[in-house]
Amino acid sequence: MSFIDTIKVRREGGVNTGEQLMALARGAADGTIPDYQLSAWLMAAYLNPLTPPETADLTKAMADSGEKLDLTGLPKPWVDKHSTGGVGDKTTIVLLPLLAACGLTVVKMSGRGLGITGGTVDKLSSVPGFRMDLTPEEMKEQAKRIGLAITGQTPRLAPADKKLYALRDVTGTVGSVPLIVSSILSKKLAGGAETVVLDVKCGSGAFMKTLPAAQELARWLREIGQFCGLNLHLSITDMSQPLGRAVGNALEVKEAIRVLKGEKGRLRDVCVHFAGMALTATGRGSASDAEKALDSGAALAKAKEWFAAQGADLGVFESEDWCSAKDVSELRAEQSGWVSILDAQTIGQAVVDMGGGRKMREDYIDSSVGIVLHAAVGDRVEKGQLLAELHGPIQDIGRAFEMSDTSVPARSVVIE
Ligand code: URA
Repeated sequence: MSFIDTIKVRREGGVNTGEQLMALARGAADGTIPDYQLSAWLMAAYLNPLTPPETADLTKAMADSGEKLDLTGLPKPWVDKHSTGGVGDKTTIVLLPLLAACGLTVVKMSGRGLGITGGTVDKLSSVPGFRMDLTPEEMKEQAKRIGLAITGQTPRLAPADKKLYALRDVTGTVGSVPLIVSSILSKKLAGGAETVVLDVKCGSGAFMKTLPAAQELARWLREIGQFCGLNLHLSITDMSQPLGRAVGNALEVKEAIRVLKGEKGRLRDVCVHFAGMALTATGRGSASDAEKALDSGAALAKAKEWFAAQGADLGVFESEDWCSAKDVSELRAEQSGWVSILDAQTIGQAVVDMGGGRKMREDYIDSSVGIVLHAAVGDRVEKGQLLAELHGPIQDIGRAFEMSDTSVPARSVVIE
């Protein structure tokens, strides 16, 4: 059967067999199915979503499209984390060293930016020298030595996802629940961890814009994950406004380092929440142990060890004077009031338009550009007060902010 038949079945709303999905994953991984046919299938799959059994088949086929990391010999417990993607989401850069500082072994495969949501690969690649192309052998050796390792999507682990992920990003086919589920879970299966914490983002800066949509994605992740034998722990978190203050690759790494150094706020809260979840799930502690690891400097020390192991210039911990945009402009409040909306989608799109994300698969990313927010939902601001700094080309982000004459409660970051 040719791949054209697989596309036609999908186009007509039929069911793709396990064999067809295996051939798809194999062909995506080894390059024998051309991008235009894969893109046609992806669009058909976006319009006629895969059923749960098809999604489970695709997940396994994508995980089997390359090697699986065998973590045997590494200290237990083995933990991994993933986010469904959001604007300003730099949780991984804080959470990985935090978990390792609490005694867990963390091995993670991350992605590039997808749509308006940033990707950890792009963020960490902004750090001079940081290697995001570790081989499976290097990952294992490093995790054994220091407790954590991260890599980008490699040609050896879940290579089918590497190809499909890049095509979805530029063909308008990201926001499909079965495609998101198979993409995330295939990487988790290939990564070999026993316990996985998943951050399901909800709001305008995420693929799931409403709580019912995020709940549906969480349900699918849990069910397909269970079917595939993964031990998953999930929370839904707020993405109606960007997470933290910075959006843009290098700016987000700088913010993550500040949190590792003790800065408080919503980013730290979400990291402590997921660290607590992983520690409780593995019987190794709770959220208060994560707080202690941040306050004592243990997580920061582990982060430095991690950056050094992956080739990074440790100067990034000493000063923020690296990978900076030449031009910085300001947005100031036109009226006094309380911030009632800070739209994550508008901010995320502006950063992509500034050159901080991709519109084409091979687009160059300017790591220095981005937006630093100086107000969040619930804050009182006075006329003329600084709302945001734009690092790079000027964008119209004023419409991201809405003001209210009456006070607005701050929004909690963990929804459920
Ligand atoms: N993260 C992934 O790895 N894949 C998706 O499809 C979305 C978020």
